[in-house]
Amino acid sequence: MSWENKGKLVPRRELIKTPEQIEGIRKAGLLNTAVLDEVQKHIKAGMSTEDINTIVHEYTISHGGIPAPLNYEGFPKSVCTSINEVVCHGIPNEDEILEDGDIINVDCTTILDGYYADASRMFVIGKTTPKKQKLVDVAKECLEIGMKAAHPFCFVGDIGYEIAKHAHKNGFSVVRDLCGHGVGLEFHEDPDIVHYGKKGSGMLLVPGMVFTIEPMINMGDWRVFIDEDDGWTVVSEDELPSAQWEHTFVMTEEGLEILTY
Ligand code: MF3
Ligand code: CO
Ligand code: CO
Repeated sequence: MSWENKGKLVPRRELIKTPEQIEGIRKAGLLNTAVLDEVQKHIKAGMSTEDINTIVHEYTISHGGIPAPLNYEGFPKSVCTSINEVVCHGIPNEDEILEDGDIINVDCTTILDGYYADASRMFVIGKTTPKKQKLVDVAKECLEIGMKAAHPFCFVGDIGYEIAKHAHKNGFSVVRDLCGHGVGLEFHEDPDIVHYGKKGSGMLLVPGMVFTIEPMINMGDWRVFIDEDDGWTVVSEDELPSAQWEHTFVMTEEGLEILTY
């Protein structure tokens, strides 16, 4: 019996990239990594999230890229900066100053020659509390565990199952309202990469597919809300801290390869 006859979701042909497309996404990934490295070099207490936006914008443009967030569905800046209880999609602002003990996610997406790569990292400003440091570390482990859980002809749910298991084991929760996604020719493509769920659920993942894994891990409850004033900023409902790491991957015959190192 074919996969489709078993009621499984299989990728359309367009979701399987050609070797040439993968090389293009790889180059976008190299620039995206350089942008995040540039942020890492300069980020410190006392600077504003607008300063981070300036670094990302200038570096990207001067290296021939385009910051994908700018004007994406009306997003006003070139990068997302999400501090403490902000889960994701925080908007850089000159009045928002990084303080000692803050944890911040910087999420960059770069377009180069029409190809997209998407990745984010957490930065700890100065020294934070052991609990917030653990959240940052466990969120990173969740991404690594998700990566290792994936192999050719596995399902999205096999990844999410392992991520949620690790988060819960550490007393944290997994955000459900936002997920990873196919990426490469557009910012957000199919499939949805959910970070929780049942093994064998979701789409079949085959060689040539390019997608992100980007688990958002909450210290408290998984529920979130969107700031009504800006329509973007996603915040944990209990206003406890949240952490996220993201890479863009290509599925190969051997498993996942990171395109945003
Ligand atoms: N980079 C985010 C992601 O990982 C999406 C940001 S959309 C934006 O999918 F408009 F807020 F930039
Ligand atoms: Co993404
Ligand atoms: Co991203």
